[in-house]
Amino acid sequence: MCGIVGYVGADHAKEKIIDGLKRLEYRGYDSAGIALPIDGKIQIRKHVGEIRNLEKIIGEPEFDSAVGIGHTRWATHGAPSDLNSHPHGNSDNSIAIVHNGIIENYQEIKEWLARDYGVTFKSETDSEVIAHLIGIFYDGDLLEAVNKAVAEMRGAYAVCAIAAAEPDKIVAVRKDAPLVAGVGKGFNFIASDIPALLKYVRQVYLIENNETVVLTKDDIVIYNEEGRKVRRDVFNVTWDADAAEKEGYEHFMLKEIHEQPKGIYETLTRRINDDGSIRLDGISMTKEDIENFNKVYIVACGTAYHAGLVGKLVIEKMAHVPVEIDVASEFRYRDPFVDENTLFIAISQSGETLDTLAALREAKRKGARVLSVVNVVGSSVARESDDVFYTWAGPEIAVASTKAYTTQLICMYLLGLYMGKTKGTIEDDYYDKVLSDLKALPDKVELLLKKEDEIAEIARKYHRREQVFFIGRGLDSGVSYEGSLKLKEISYINSFAIAAGELKHGTIALMEEETLVFALATQDFLYEKMVSNVEEIRARGARIISVAKEGRTEIEKVTDEVIYIPDCIDEVSPVLAVIPLQLFAYYVARERGCNIDKPKNLAKSVTVE
Ligand code: F6R
Repeated sequence: MCGIVGYVGADHAKEKIIDGLKRLEYRGYDSAGIALPIDGKIQIRKHVGEIRNLEKIIGEPEFDSAVGIGHTRWATHGAPSDLNSHPHGNSDNSIAIVHNGIIENYQEIKEWLARDYGVTFKSETDSEVIAHLIGIFYDGDLLEAVNKAVAEMRGAYAVCAIAAAEPDKIVAVRKDAPLVAGVGKGFNFIASDIPALLKYVRQVYLIENNETVVLTKDDIVIYNEEGRKVRRDVFNVTWDADAAEKEGYEHFMLKEIHEQPKGIYETLTRRINDDGSIRLDGISMTKEDIENFNKVYIVACGTAYHAGLVGKLVIEKMAHVPVEIDVASEFRYRDPFVDENTLFIAISQSGETLDTLAALREAKRKGARVLSVVNVVGSSVARESDDVFYTWAGPEIAVASTKAYTTQLICMYLLGLYMGKTKGTIEDDYYDKVLSDLKALPDKVELLLKKEDEIAEIARKYHRREQVFFIGRGLDSGVSYEGSLKLKEISYINSFAIAAGELKHGTIALMEEETLVFALATQDFLYEKMVSNVEEIRARGARIISVAKEGRTEIEKVTDEVIYIPDCIDEVSPVLAVIPLQLFAYYVARERGCNIDKPKNLAKSVTVE
């Protein structure tokens, strides 16, 4: 995720900014840059890759100042490159900005600036328009110019701006993206996140939405939307830098579980137009292409494969096309039936998983159209695909994938709806119902996360088990696989997932007194069958934890614990059903004292076979 650090003081802004940016490295980034006002001009240096690449080009003592802004970028619009890195300048570099977030109407602004002001753009980013807007409105007062620019922008942003003609100040503004001002003596900081500042300050102002801040070395002035000064109490940071990186959560995994409402919102909402149609930026498949696919192939590994299991059922139902699914390591070695009428979907958080990449190349060689669902912009899978559908989950740091999974599911739904609508295989009423249930998900996930204590309590009760089963039917069966993987990878418990109807064909032999089984029963049309499956294993003495939709209380009679998820249509329930499983895995691992964020033998990005 992008990081912002700005400094106003007496000297050596460069040093402090680099320090701050390094404190944000853990969040992931693909390039870094810095802008300083020097001798009446703004100088910008930026470089793709790690901060040490940037450090190599800012070494000379003349490149320094008492004021400056810096940025680490996590690409959303435009691949990682020197030009797309921040800071961005206006046409004559009299203004420079850094930006976190997304400017939704940047295309409109770009066209307007090009047409009416002859502006030419150096980068492919949405952010560059901000520098030009401020430049056009600038008349000797940076605060006023920033306010005017903001009035033209739609979207989410934390922006910091400097002007060559006012080299003693930074003006910053926020809407739906974090921003904090750090209070020093004879210097002040602005940053997107507290960890960036902790080496230098412990007192911060938390900037609120639609507020603007002017920082000079001796003063921090906050203005509200109406331009009136705001009094804000300082917030004393008591955590150490390590805890601050996790924003108070004990582990990145827990932080990322809690970031899911935001990830789902970002991935979903920006792709839905006001009239309910779906906008798939970055995907150039035509109606004819979609109509000509006679098969879809989904290929991925691990958690991404589990998202594909749900995707298969969703796309088949909505787009009326057969969908095959395989793990990448099998697909690549078995000469699969793939041709130019196949849509090949690769799902990958990192975009660097070697097996997925090799499978994608194999599918391409056979003529398939390749669409990837990827979290890391500009990654190998993204670069080698015909179309890329990004999950806007933000960087995932914990090895166990959580927010990438739920945003991958969102992409599957959007793709199913889009293809179904384009082909005319989806009824309007059904389309509207799915869409409205999808839009309700961020709030429902938020609600479900409030059951954290209840789930932690269940985890405490059962954390000593050495074997756990996960069962479900239909879409729940795909979620069972994910729940089982989460538990085994971070707690090292031997867990096993199986379609509930398949139990009696062998696995039921393992059911005995006290065997622990997680039963997912969120599919209304399979609910009764699921209750019967649970009864069968209960009769053998198994302990059951069920996940069911609110109001479906029948299952209480046959289970030891029930975790209820908010009501929704069956199709979207996997996004909700997985949350208790993630939390259960997390709290079991915590009780067992495991290294949750870095489980043994596992890596975040598997770039070997
Ligand atoms: C499990 C997990 C892995 C990954 C798998 C694929 O929590 O994270 O199973 O899902 O290694 O990785 P990506 O999605 O990066 O291709």
